[in-house]
Amino acid sequence: MKIKVDNEITLKDLELDSAEILFDLIDSCRDYLSEWLSWVEETLQLNDTILYIQSVAGHDMFNGRSVFEIWYKNDLAGLIDFHSGDKVNMSVEIGYWLGEKFQNKGIMTRACSACIDYAFTTLGFNRIVIKCALGNVKSQAIPKRLNFKFEGIEREGQILNYRFNDLMVFSMLKKEWPQSGSLNVPAIKIYLPGISGV
Ligand SMILES: CC(C)(COP(=O)(O)OP(=O)(O)OC[C@H]1O[C@@H](n2cnc3c(N)ncnc32)[C@H](O)[C@@H]1OP(=O)(O)O)[C@@H](O)C(=O)NCCC(=O)NCCS
Repeated sequence: MKIKVDNEITLKDLELDSAEILFDLIDSCRDYLSEWLSWVEETLQLNDTILYIQSVAGHDMFNGRSVFEIWYKNDLAGLIDFHSGDKVNMSVEIGYWLGEKFQNKGIMTRACSACIDYAFTTLGFNRIVIKCALGNVKSQAIPKRLNFKFEGIEREGQILNYRFNDLMVFSMLKKEWPQSGSLNVPAIKIYLPGISGV
């Protein structure tokens, strides 16, 4: 599965072929990543990344994660995923990270925007949630930039660096999202039973 976001950015399914380059990216900026991502300290060698990719395979956003590699020009820049999918209520969460040197180019805002389009128009979701740690200003800026609504604080919703952290919860509803329909993605069958048009 590939999503062409624009001339600079392409999203593609996370695959084992990318394990080495992904591990090198994580390893190149682990202090920066570990400030907000708890899994970084458990990613100490290539095999940890291989195990992670294998753990993702065969799962999806309803029973695990559906993860995309973010390619910026010819470089792997980071990952974006769908998780915590709820078929009954047609809701899903998005998570993301970028390698340090790929920040400040609008890569994640554009990747998120494409994933949101995809989730609303192709997958048939109605609600998308982004949760960011209270102090993670760079991450919060993304849902804010995309006009998500701030819903409130999920108190101590995440353990980070051995401490409970509050999470800011942002959401976007399908009816609030400007239709783009311009994504270059293959139509796939969605698995939301009983919902017409998906
Ligand atoms: C969170 C994270 C992805 C944000 O990265 P980012 O580079 O700020 O986000 P974007 O790629 O959307 O880029 C936005 C920045 O590029 C600028 N920009 C340049 N071109 C742009 C464009 N076409 N569209 C949007 N923004 C653009 C924006 O002004 C903004 O810069 P600013 O913060 O100085 O205003 C990144 O800091 C990260 O991965 N951090 C570590 C892990 C993490 O915290 N993950 C999230 C856990 S909830």
